[in-house]
Amino acid sequence: IPVDSCDFVIFGATGDLAERKLLPALYHRQCAGQFTEPTRIIGASRSELSDQEFRDYARNALTEYVSEEEKDHGQVDAFLNRLFYVAVDATSDEGWQALHEKIGDSRAVRAFYLAVGPSLFGPIAERIRDHDLLTDETRIVVEKPLGRDLESAVELNRTLSSVFREDQIFRIDHYLGKETVQNLMVLRFGNALYEPLWNSAHIDHVQITVAERVGLESRADYYDKSGAMRDMVQNHMLQLLCLVAMEPPASLDADAVRDEKLKVLRALTPMTNDTVHRHTVRGQYRAGASLGGAVKGYLDELESGKSETETFVALKTEIGNWRWAGVPFYLRTGKRLATRASEIVVQFKPIPHSIFEESAGEVVANQLVIRLQPDEGVKQWMMVKDPGPGGMRLRHVPLDMYFADAFNVRNPDAYERLLTDVVRGNQTLFMRGDEVEAAWKWIDPIMRAWHERPGDIAGYTAGSWGPAAAIGLIERDGRSWHESF
Ligand code: BG6
Repeated sequence: IPVDSCDFVIFGATGDLAERKLLPALYHRQCAGQFTEPTRIIGASRSELSDQEFRDYARNALTEYVSEEEKDHGQVDAFLNRLFYVAVDATSDEGWQALHEKIGDSRAVRAFYLAVGPSLFGPIAERIRDHDLLTDETRIVVEKPLGRDLESAVELNRTLSSVFREDQIFRIDHYLGKETVQNLMVLRFGNALYEPLWNSAHIDHVQITVAERVGLESRADYYDKSGAMRDMVQNHMLQLLCLVAMEPPASLDADAVRDEKLKVLRALTPMTNDTVHRHTVRGQYRAGASLGGAVKGYLDELESGKSETETFVALKTEIGNWRWAGVPFYLRTGKRLATRASEIVVQFKPIPHSIFEESAGEVVANQLVIRLQPDEGVKQWMMVKDPGPGGMRLRHVPLDMYFADAFNVRNPDAYERLLTDVVRGNQTLFMRGDEVEAAWKWIDPIMRAWHERPGDIAGYTAGSWGPAAAIGLIERDGRSWHESF
């Protein structure tokens, strides 16, 4: 479905995010016929480039980040013709008049995507206002890091909301744009099957794993100041947890969904110094092997060779409400792990009583595995009878749906969905300011407790599943990490 015509302004247009994600995503939307004329994409950054130079830059980005079979020369040319460029300095008034002139008094939707560091969010927002670029149909898009603790997140929200209304602020968490993450809502609320069982009476525990194979990927500057907790848990993992745990919203309306997610974040059991030490594990990778080759340890990748930053987190938490009391949620994420795999595992409770002889084999409890990547899909593990005349023998098998097999369509990148939602003005898959703050409020005490015990970080070999303590964290409870990879 086409979206309204738009002037899509990318600050930081020559940066990594624009090159790897934004320009390719917008190109795919061009191919899908989603742009209404006259839609323009205006690059803005400090470099002095002509429109043509920016188009050349974008052509290279597409060469690098769009596969050959997805490239259609006619569409590439049509896409590049939408591109314009203005040199703008976010920290002074230089270039803003030119940007104003380029946009003119178009009544199209205006989206300003700030693909720049957070210290520039405030200065850019204020200049958008001061240079008369703000219309009713203006939206601003920002992305992590949205603060580094509660205080800075509150400050950032205050800055943005001094210029924009909340319904104009689009805070991206790209996990919310992933197909399987959206599917989670369909699985829960489009089927009558799960919701009656979706509570502490029937669910033993939930696991959320986001494992990455990559290491620092030339992002040392950003990552070393952030670490796995701020980079992955505060946002992506807590958002996944919210979608698993929230009450059914009355509709898919943005605030209906975000109100429910907010309630979950506010109901997370707060950590104390004591629970931080018992229920969290942080690790840092040491030299090891990945993808068949030797890889350096984290410290060897840093110029300073010193750091207390965690590249792995595992933790156990609970949600203090009627639905979830007593159900542990185990989360783990890390860099340089054994494989790239993200999944949510909902472990149901065992049956109350078995009618089968011991010789029939073990009755294993049901498990629902929602795989986000790679090989997006859903597996419902169940017990069935082993076929054949050999008597009653039980087998644990998955009802397995790989989306790639079930639907023969290309899986769009998360940014494609999110960028069109920005133009549509649909905030359902974006974080509201109060959600971001509630997440930090829960994270802050953990970071403080860690800060007080700097040496308490376990090394793990690159290419492994993280520190042994992460296995201990769940095995102490008589459970184990699901490893289907
Ligand atoms: C980003 C993090 O938000 O998500 C990165 O900053 C991480 O460190 C990335 O690698 C993971 O995203 P995806 O889509 O590859 O799972």
